[in-house]
Amino acid sequence: MKTPSRFTLDDRLPADHFTTTLRSDVLTGLGATPRTLPPKWLYDERGSDLFEQITLLPEYYPTRSEQEILAERSQEIAELTRAVTLVELGSGSSRKTRLLLDALVAGGTLRRYEALDVSATALEEACMAIDRDYEGIQVTGTVADLETDMVLPVGAGPRLVAFLGSTIGNFDRDQRASFCRALAAVLSPDDVLLLGADLVKDPGTLVRAYDDSAGVTAEFNRNVLRVLNRELGADFEADAFEHLALWNEAEERVEMHLQSRRAQTAKVPALGLSLDFTRGESIRTELSCKFRRETLTAELYDAGLTVRRCWTDSGSRFALLLAAPTAPFGGRRV
Ligand code: AVJ
Repeated sequence: MKTPSRFTLDDRLPADHFTTTLRSDVLTGLGATPRTLPPKWLYDERGSDLFEQITLLPEYYPTRSEQEILAERSQEIAELTRAVTLVELGSGSSRKTRLLLDALVAGGTLRRYEALDVSATALEEACMAIDRDYEGIQVTGTVADLETDMVLPVGAGPRLVAFLGSTIGNFDRDQRASFCRALAAVLSPDDVLLLGADLVKDPGTLVRAYDDSAGVTAEFNRNVLRVLNRELGADFEADAFEHLALWNEAEERVEMHLQSRRAQTAKVPALGLSLDFTRGESIRTELSCKFRRETLTAELYDAGLTVRRCWTDSGSRFALLLAAPTAPFGGRRV
């Protein structure tokens, strides 16, 4: 195996972490009514590739909207934070990150880039590319599951912790509260969080973003069944499930489902499961919560984070929030 020359890849998960959590997620999620699967299992190598394709679709506006804000505001963010370390949570391909990196390098403060992701393949590719293109910046990738273990890599402060792409929308309200509380607890007083959040808008636009005409999102969704087949020896017939994207008005979230086209049984031998699906029965594979500025600001405040800036794109589709740990005596840096 070729060892990367300068950047380090740190796998802090026990070797069996993914199989263990996949098994328990499948056992609890597919055994429940309604049936659910956590979205993180969508991102194997093929799933990560499909997601990259999604970000280029005409219907999928979030990536472009966020990029527009970053292009406009990176310099201001660099000036406000004077970050020495950029930590990116759920970095994926790290393409948008370059706008931040460029601004922080131009501002002369940046020394380190730390990427964290559940996907080792996406992480390795991203770190390699950034390491190659940013000389003098120390690059580290950490394979981590932030939901179960919130540990930020050590890096000189001030740190800018970026959680982009509205990945926070994958959590429901309770998961969000514990995630934000855990994050606030590991931030130092001079660190800041840069959070990308997709905003509530007309249901047509939202649903089209998750049900594109080229069918890429449908393939991305069905891919999770292929992950179960490969990892657990399951025998799901992926094409016997239809991709559905629904706007849940009461919860203000888009949901992705896989709906059984007919009555069928799927076996998961590794777990001794035999799952009977009625025609029309579905598995909920992803939540994508949409936000309102005031409620998100209040949620962050409850978790110990005070929003200092909030920017949106020209179409008001997406928001980028800069938040700092709430100082006990009202002191502030940003
Ligand atoms: C990467 C989780 C933010 O919810 O919009 C895209 C994933 N799912 N199309 C999102 C996704 C279907 C995406 N996040």
